Amino acid sequence: MDQSQKQNSHAILFEQPRIGHLTLKNRIALSPMTRTSATEDGLATEEMGRYYARFARGCYSLVITEGTYTDETYSQGYHNQPGIANQAQADAWRRVVDAVHHEDGLIFMQLMHAGALSQGNLYTDETIAPSSVKPVGEQLDIYGGQGEFSTPREMTRHDIESVIRSFAEAAGRARDAGFDGIEIHGANGYVLDQFLTDYTNQRTDEYGGSTENRIRLHVEVLEAVRREVGKDYPVGIRISQGKVNDFYHKWANGKEDARIIFESLAKAGPDFIHITEYDATRPAFDDGETLTELAKRYTHVPVIANGQLGEPAKAEEMIANGMADVITLGKSALANPSWPKRVMEGEPVEEFDFSILQPQAYIKEHEL
Ligand SMILES: Cc1cc2nc3c(=O)[nH]c(=O)nc-3n(C[C@H](O)[C@H](O)[C@H](O)COP(=O)(O)O)c2cc1C
Repeated sequence: MDQSQKQNSHAILFEQPRIGHLTLKNRIALSPMTRTSATEDGLATEEMGRYYARFARGCYSLVITEGTYTDETYSQGYHNQPGIANQAQADAWRRVVDAVHHEDGLIFMQLMHAGALSQGNLYTDETIAPSSVKPVGEQLDIYGGQGEFSTPREMTRHDIESVIRSFAEAAGRARDAGFDGIEIHGANGYVLDQFLTDYTNQRTDEYGGSTENRIRLHVEVLEAVRREVGKDYPVGIRISQGKVNDFYHKWANGKEDARIIFESLAKAGPDFIHITEYDATRPAFDDGETLTELAKRYTHVPVIANGQLGEPAKAEEMIANGMADVITLGKSALANPSWPKRVMEGEPVEEFDFSILQPQAYIKEHEL
């Protein structure tokens, strides 16, 4: 293939999709990645500004921040995770926002509550979750954890209301700090996903039992964030089957669960749905459609696809086959902070090398 053919073959990745009122300059975004490089009290640093700006400079149209905790009680998951739980934390993020905007990029904040997977919290040693079920798997060593997770306390109605309120208030602070949009972290095993997951949610109230009930908290958080930030501010949600502590989990009722989940989310009026799967191009269940295709069918909003899309041809396949509107890169972005630029110019992309996250996940000097 000569140079011009290479460029043409990826042209679809450089179309300009819309999310809410925003027009992205291409279809390639940075996936949220926790790098535990904030101060101990959760303040984003100047170094983080330089780290995120590098992706904008490399032509990622949209940067989604690492999961950022929402309150000063149970939401923090990791030591040195950034927060947006108070005004000082919100103010600290301004330098990151400014650094990304300076490179002509857009930046969304990912809001996260760790629930039972919290393994490092400045504010409390107790963890909370839909039910008092000890998480499977082990704490993440790249964030300094070791051994089993603690057994969480079952959340009361009051806890649920506090979580909803904390997402909404954090979203308001993020909007005021200059972020271009919000992603609610509803995926990967953290608190919202703990509600959705059959084996971590044993509740008998309206948040437990049926799939409709188990997706209720996602919907209520989306609605509360929407009320807080207004109808014109971009808000979306990330959802997955797999988890950081259980990679291979699948929704028990397959496509029927997908229908219920996506139709419920759509009713809350998100501007986008971000789907992460181990490999986004694979069927979500035994055969047939990918999870992103199911999301597109039932939500009719822009769908962002994530999972092993670092090969330009795979990224392109997702878009060309109508399976997604935007793709996000995680590990491949760490290996290629200029992936969009490289692909646009027909340059090869580098393989991810896990040593970048060793001995722990904090940002390394060469990433600035
Ligand atoms: C170091 C690291 C940190 C991550 N932190 C987050 C996070 O804060 N929020 C989130 O939704 N996903 C997080 N993820 C998952 C990625 O966003 C992405 O879904 C995953 O790496 C799969 O995509 P990939 O195949 O492009 O790497 C993280 C992944 C890595 C490697």
